[in-house]
Amino acid sequence: MDCTLGAGGHARLLLERIGPTGRLLAIDRDEAAVAAAEDALAGTGASLTLVRADFAEVARVARETGFERVDGILFDLGLSSDQLDDPERGFSLRREGPLDMRMDRRNPVTAQRVVNELSERELAGIIRRLGEERWATRIARFVAARRPLRTTRDLSSAVEAAIPRAAWPPDIHPATRTFQAVRMHVNDELGSLSAGLQGALEILAHGGRLAAISFHSLEDATVKRFLADESRDCLCPPRQPVCTCGHRATLRILTRKPIRPSAEEVAANPRSRSARLRAAERL
Ligand SMILES: C[S@@+](CC[C@H](N)C(=O)[O-])C[C@H]1O[C@@H](n2cnc3c(N)ncnc32)[C@H](O)[C@@H]1O
Repeated sequence: MDCTLGAGGHARLLLERIGPTGRLLAIDRDEAAVAAAEDALAGTGASLTLVRADFAEVARVARETGFERVDGILFDLGLSSDQLDDPERGFSLRREGPLDMRMDRRNPVTAQRVVNELSERELAGIIRRLGEERWATRIARFVAARRPLRTTRDLSSAVEAAIPRAAWPPDIHPATRTFQAVRMHVNDELGSLSAGLQGALEILAHGGRLAAISFHSLEDATVKRFLADESRDCLCPPRQPVCTCGHRATLRILTRKPIRPSAEEVAANPRSRSARLRAAERL
Protein backbone atom coordinates (compact mmCIF):
# COMPACT_ATOMS: atom_id res chain seq x y z
CA MET A 1 0.00 0.00 0.00
CA ASP A 2 1.15 3.46 -0.87
CA CYS A 3 -0.78 5.78 1.47
CA THR A 4 0.59 8.94 -0.14
CA LEU A 5 0.45 8.49 -3.90
CA GLY A 6 1.42 12.08 -4.87
CA ALA A 7 3.04 12.10 -8.31
CA GLY A 8 3.33 8.31 -8.20
CA GLY A 9 7.13 8.00 -7.99
CA HIS A 10 7.07 5.48 -5.16
CA ALA A 11 4.02 3.72 -6.59
CA ARG A 12 5.87 3.17 -9.88
CA LEU A 13 8.85 1.62 -8.06
CA LEU A 14 6.56 -0.52 -5.91
CA LEU A 15 4.73 -1.78 -9.01
CA GLU A 16 8.06 -2.73 -10.59
CA ARG A 17 9.13 -4.61 -7.47
CA ILE A 18 5.90 -6.53 -6.84
CA GLY A 19 5.75 -7.73 -10.44
CA PRO A 20 2.74 -9.03 -12.35
CA THR A 21 1.39 -11.12 -9.47
CA GLY A 22 1.50 -8.34 -6.88
CA ARG A 23 -1.28 -5.95 -6.00
CA LEU A 24 -0.85 -2.31 -5.01
CA LEU A 25 -3.42 -0.10 -3.33
CA ALA A 26 -2.46 3.57 -3.60
CA ILE A 27 -4.37 6.40 -1.97
CA ASP A 28 -4.20 10.16 -1.78
CA ARG A 29 -6.66 12.68 -0.40
CA ASP A 30 -5.86 15.03 -3.31
CA GLU A 31 -8.13 14.44 -6.30
CA ALA A 32 -5.52 15.92 -8.68
CA ALA A 33 -2.89 13.37 -7.58
CA VAL A 34 -5.24 10.42 -8.12
CA ALA A 35 -6.35 11.71 -11.54
CA ALA A 36 -2.75 12.29 -12.69
CA ALA A 37 -1.62 8.86 -11.47
CA GLU A 38 -4.40 7.14 -13.39
CA ASP A 39 -2.72 8.25 -16.62
CA ALA A 40 0.89 8.10 -15.46
CA LEU A 41 0.70 4.56 -14.06
CA ALA A 42 -1.57 3.04 -16.69
CA GLY A 43 -0.06 -0.07 -18.26
CA THR A 44 2.59 -0.69 -15.62
CA GLY A 45 1.69 -4.38 -15.41
CA ALA A 46 0.89 -5.21 -11.80
CA SER A 47 -2.62 -4.76 -10.50
CA LEU A 48 -3.17 -1.25 -9.22
CA THR A 49 -6.12 0.14 -7.25
CA LEU A 50 -6.29 3.92 -6.83
CA VAL A 51 -8.55 5.54 -4.25
CA ARG A 52 -9.07 9.13 -3.24
CA ALA A 53 -9.16 8.98 0.54
CA ASP A 54 -7.58 10.25 3.72
CA PHE A 55 -5.10 7.70 5.01
CA ALA A 56 -6.76 8.09 8.42
CA GLU A 57 -9.28 5.68 6.82
CA VAL A 58 -6.63 3.27 5.57
CA ALA A 59 -8.05 0.16 7.25
CA ARG A 60 -11.57 0.76 5.92
CA VAL A 61 -10.34 1.56 2.39
CA ALA A 62 -8.16 -1.57 2.38
CA ARG A 63 -11.03 -3.81 3.44
CA GLU A 64 -13.45 -2.26 0.96
CA THR A 65 -11.03 -2.82 -1.91
CA GLY A 66 -10.26 -6.43 -1.00
CA PHE A 67 -6.92 -5.90 0.74
CA GLU A 68 -7.54 -7.87 3.94
CA ARG A 69 -3.87 -8.27 4.87
CA VAL A 70 -1.09 -6.07 3.51
CA ASP A 71 2.64 -6.93 3.27
CA GLY A 72 3.97 -3.39 3.10
CA ILE A 73 2.63 0.07 3.89
CA LEU A 74 4.36 3.32 3.02
CA PHE A 75 3.64 6.86 4.21
CA ASP A 76 5.60 9.64 2.45
CA LEU A 77 4.22 12.56 4.42
CA GLY A 78 3.65 16.21 3.69
CA LEU A 79 3.18 17.90 0.36
CA SER A 80 4.05 16.79 -3.15
CA SER A 81 6.08 19.05 -5.41
CA ASP A 82 3.00 19.34 -7.65
CA GLN A 83 1.03 20.81 -4.74
CA LEU A 84 3.84 23.07 -3.56
CA ASP A 85 4.62 24.43 -7.02
CA ASP A 86 1.03 25.29 -8.00
CA PRO A 87 0.36 28.86 -6.75
CA GLU A 88 -3.42 28.28 -6.97
CA ARG A 89 -3.17 25.73 -4.13
CA GLY A 90 -1.84 28.40 -1.77
CA PHE A 91 0.93 26.27 -0.18
CA SER A 92 3.89 28.27 -1.40
CA LEU A 93 5.08 31.35 0.40
CA ARG A 94 7.22 32.37 -2.56
CA ARG A 95 4.43 32.42 -5.16
CA GLU A 96 1.36 34.54 -4.62
CA GLY A 97 -1.90 32.64 -4.57
CA PRO A 98 -5.18 32.33 -2.68
CA LEU A 99 -4.92 31.28 0.98
CA ASP A 100 -6.18 27.76 0.43
CA MET A 101 -3.70 25.03 1.57
CA ARG A 102 -6.26 22.20 1.44
CA MET A 103 -4.95 18.85 0.26
CA ASP A 104 -8.56 17.71 -0.15
CA ARG A 105 -10.54 20.52 -1.74
CA ARG A 106 -13.78 19.17 -0.30
CA ASN A 107 -12.55 20.20 3.14
CA PRO A 108 -14.57 23.27 4.23
CA VAL A 109 -11.63 24.68 6.25
CA THR A 110 -9.28 26.80 4.15
CA ALA A 111 -6.20 28.74 5.26
CA GLN A 112 -8.17 31.92 4.56
CA ARG A 113 -10.80 30.93 7.10
CA VAL A 114 -8.16 29.96 9.67
CA VAL A 115 -6.24 33.25 9.48
CA ASN A 116 -9.37 35.45 9.26
CA GLU A 117 -11.94 33.71 11.45
CA LEU A 118 -10.11 32.25 14.44
CA SER A 119 -9.51 34.38 17.51
CA GLU A 120 -6.07 35.91 17.83
CA ARG A 121 -5.44 33.60 20.78
CA GLU A 122 -6.43 30.44 18.91
CA LEU A 123 -4.29 31.45 15.96
CA ALA A 124 -1.29 32.11 18.20
CA GLY A 125 -1.76 28.66 19.78
CA ILE A 126 -1.75 26.95 16.37
CA ILE A 127 1.35 28.83 15.19
CA ARG A 128 3.18 28.09 18.44
CA ARG A 129 2.24 24.40 18.63
CA LEU A 130 2.31 23.33 14.98
CA GLY A 131 4.96 25.80 13.77
CA GLU A 132 7.12 25.66 16.92
CA GLU A 133 7.35 29.43 16.38
CA ARG A 134 8.45 31.55 19.34
CA TRP A 135 7.04 34.74 17.77
CA ALA A 136 3.56 33.21 17.55
CA THR A 137 1.77 35.75 19.77
CA ARG A 138 3.16 38.72 17.84
CA ILE A 139 2.47 37.08 14.48
CA ALA A 140 -1.16 36.43 15.45
CA ARG A 141 -1.49 40.07 16.55
CA PHE A 142 -0.13 41.37 13.24
CA VAL A 143 -2.33 38.99 11.26
CA ALA A 144 -5.43 40.04 13.20
CA ALA A 145 -4.63 43.72 12.61
CA ARG A 146 -4.41 43.16 8.84
CA ARG A 147 -7.65 41.21 8.41
CA PRO A 148 -9.06 40.31 5.97
CA LEU A 149 -6.04 38.51 4.48
CA ARG A 150 -6.67 37.04 1.04
CA THR A 151 -3.39 35.82 -0.44
CA THR A 152 -0.26 33.95 0.57
CA ARG A 153 1.59 37.24 0.15
CA ASP A 154 -0.76 38.92 2.67
CA LEU A 155 0.16 36.22 5.20
CA SER A 156 3.89 36.16 4.52
CA SER A 157 4.16 39.95 4.71
CA ALA A 158 2.23 40.02 8.02
CA VAL A 159 4.77 37.53 9.42
CA GLU A 160 7.72 39.48 8.01
CA ALA A 161 6.40 42.61 9.74
CA ALA A 162 5.81 40.77 13.03
CA ILE A 163 9.27 39.24 13.47
CA PRO A 164 12.06 41.79 14.03
CA ARG A 165 14.53 41.56 11.15
CA ALA A 166 17.43 40.70 13.46
CA ALA A 167 15.49 37.61 14.61
CA TRP A 168 14.70 36.29 11.09
CA PRO A 169 16.00 32.72 10.75
CA PRO A 170 19.20 32.57 8.69
CA ASP A 171 18.31 29.56 6.54
CA ILE A 172 14.55 29.68 5.95
CA HIS A 173 11.97 32.32 5.03
CA PRO A 174 10.62 33.96 8.23
CA ALA A 175 7.07 32.81 7.38
CA THR A 176 8.01 29.12 6.83
CA ARG A 177 6.96 28.02 10.32
CA THR A 178 3.70 29.94 10.19
CA PHE A 179 2.80 28.47 6.80
CA GLN A 180 3.61 24.99 8.10
CA ALA A 181 1.40 25.52 11.16
CA VAL A 182 -1.60 26.82 9.18
CA ARG A 183 -1.27 24.02 6.63
CA MET A 184 -1.05 21.36 9.33
CA HIS A 185 -4.12 22.77 11.04
CA VAL A 186 -6.14 23.05 7.80
CA ASN A 187 -5.42 19.40 6.95
CA ASP A 188 -5.36 18.05 10.53
CA GLU A 189 -2.08 16.42 9.56
CA LEU A 190 -1.06 15.06 12.95
CA GLY A 191 -4.56 13.71 13.63
CA SER A 192 -4.59 11.90 10.27
CA LEU A 193 -1.09 10.58 10.85
CA SER A 194 -1.94 9.04 14.24
CA ALA A 195 -5.13 7.49 12.87
CA GLY A 196 -3.30 6.32 9.73
CA LEU A 197 -0.52 4.57 11.67
CA GLN A 198 -3.07 2.86 13.90
CA GLY A 199 -5.10 1.78 10.86
CA ALA A 200 -1.98 0.50 9.12
CA LEU A 201 -1.23 -1.72 12.08
CA GLU A 202 -4.70 -3.27 11.87
CA ILE A 203 -4.18 -4.50 8.30
CA LEU A 204 -0.46 -5.28 8.26
CA ALA A 205 0.24 -9.00 7.84
CA HIS A 206 2.63 -10.77 10.25
CA GLY A 207 6.14 -10.09 8.98
CA GLY A 208 4.78 -7.17 6.92
CA ARG A 209 6.56 -3.83 7.03
CA LEU A 210 5.47 -0.30 7.75
CA ALA A 211 7.61 2.65 6.65
CA ALA A 212 7.07 6.38 7.14
CA ILE A 213 9.05 9.30 5.74
CA SER A 214 8.52 12.55 7.63
CA PHE A 215 9.73 16.06 6.90
CA HIS A 216 9.59 17.91 10.18
CA SER A 217 10.03 17.27 13.86
CA LEU A 218 6.36 17.03 14.87
CA GLU A 219 5.64 14.42 12.23
CA ASP A 220 8.78 12.49 13.05
CA ALA A 221 8.01 12.64 16.78
CA THR A 222 4.52 11.20 16.11
CA VAL A 223 5.96 8.31 14.06
CA LYS A 224 8.77 7.70 16.56
CA ARG A 225 6.39 7.60 19.55
CA PHE A 226 3.96 5.29 17.75
CA LEU A 227 6.70 2.82 16.82
CA ALA A 228 8.21 3.00 20.32
CA ASP A 229 4.84 2.33 22.00
CA GLU A 230 3.88 -0.47 19.62
CA SER A 231 7.20 -2.22 20.11
CA ARG A 232 6.77 -2.40 23.93
CA ASP A 233 4.83 -4.90 25.98
CA CYS A 234 3.60 -2.56 28.67
CA LEU A 235 2.71 1.13 28.49
CA CYS A 236 2.05 1.69 32.20
CA PRO A 237 3.89 4.61 33.87
CA PRO A 238 7.45 3.48 34.80
CA ARG A 239 6.85 3.78 38.57
CA GLN A 240 3.78 1.57 38.55
CA PRO A 241 4.83 -1.77 40.14
CA VAL A 242 2.36 -4.05 38.32
CA CYS A 243 1.18 -3.80 34.72
CA THR A 244 -2.51 -2.97 34.41
CA CYS A 245 -2.59 -1.97 30.74
CA GLY A 246 -2.14 -5.45 29.25
CA HIS A 247 -0.55 -3.90 26.14
CA ARG A 248 1.42 -6.32 23.96
CA ALA A 249 4.12 -5.36 21.43
CA THR A 250 2.93 -5.64 17.82
CA LEU A 251 5.97 -4.20 16.03
CA ARG A 252 9.72 -4.66 15.88
CA ILE A 253 11.57 -1.46 15.02
CA LEU A 254 13.94 -1.82 12.06
CA THR A 255 15.50 1.66 12.25
CA ARG A 256 16.91 2.50 15.69
CA LYS A 257 17.87 5.84 14.22
CA PRO A 258 15.94 7.32 11.29
CA ILE A 259 17.48 6.94 7.84
CA ARG A 260 18.54 10.32 6.42
CA PRO A 261 19.30 11.20 2.79
CA SER A 262 22.94 11.12 1.72
CA ALA A 263 24.77 14.32 0.70
CA GLU A 264 24.48 13.24 -2.95
CA GLU A 265 20.74 12.76 -2.64
CA VAL A 266 20.30 16.19 -1.05
CA ALA A 267 22.41 17.73 -3.82
CA ALA A 268 20.25 16.04 -6.47
CA ASN A 269 16.96 16.71 -4.66
CA PRO A 270 17.19 19.57 -2.13
CA ARG A 271 13.62 18.96 -0.93
CA SER A 272 14.79 15.65 0.56
CA ARG A 273 17.10 17.43 3.03
CA SER A 274 14.83 17.14 6.07
CA ALA A 275 13.48 13.64 5.29
CA ARG A 276 13.64 10.92 7.96
CA LEU A 277 12.58 7.37 7.25
CA ARG A 278 11.50 5.05 10.07
CA ALA A 279 10.37 1.47 9.56
CA ALA A 280 9.06 -1.46 11.58
CA GLU A 281 7.99 -5.06 11.05
CA ARG A 282 4.71 -6.57 12.27
CA LEU A 283 5.26 -9.30 14.84
C1 LIG B 1 5.33 13.86 -0.35
S1 LIG B 1 3.93 13.59 -1.33
C2 LIG B 1 4.10 11.95 -1.88
C3 LIG B 1 4.97 11.81 -3.10
C4 LIG B 1 4.97 10.40 -3.64
N1 LIG B 1 5.55 9.45 -2.71
C5 LIG B 1 5.70 10.32 -4.98
O1 LIG B 1 6.55 9.44 -5.13
O2 LIG B 1 5.39 11.12 -5.86
C6 LIG B 1 2.65 13.45 -0.16
C7 LIG B 1 1.28 13.16 -0.73
O3 LIG B 1 0.49 12.65 0.35
C8 LIG B 1 -0.79 13.17 0.28
N2 LIG B 1 -1.32 13.15 1.64
C9 LIG B 1 -0.87 13.86 2.70
N3 LIG B 1 -1.62 13.60 3.77
C10 LIG B 1 -2.54 12.67 3.38
C11 LIG B 1 -3.59 11.99 4.05
N4 LIG B 1 -3.88 12.22 5.34
N5 LIG B 1 -4.32 11.09 3.37
C12 LIG B 1 -4.04 10.83 2.06
N6 LIG B 1 -3.07 11.47 1.36
C13 LIG B 1 -2.34 12.37 2.02
C14 LIG B 1 -0.63 14.54 -0.29
O4 LIG B 1 -1.85 14.96 -0.91
C15 LIG B 1 0.53 14.35 -1.27
O5 LIG B 1 0.04 14.09 -2.56
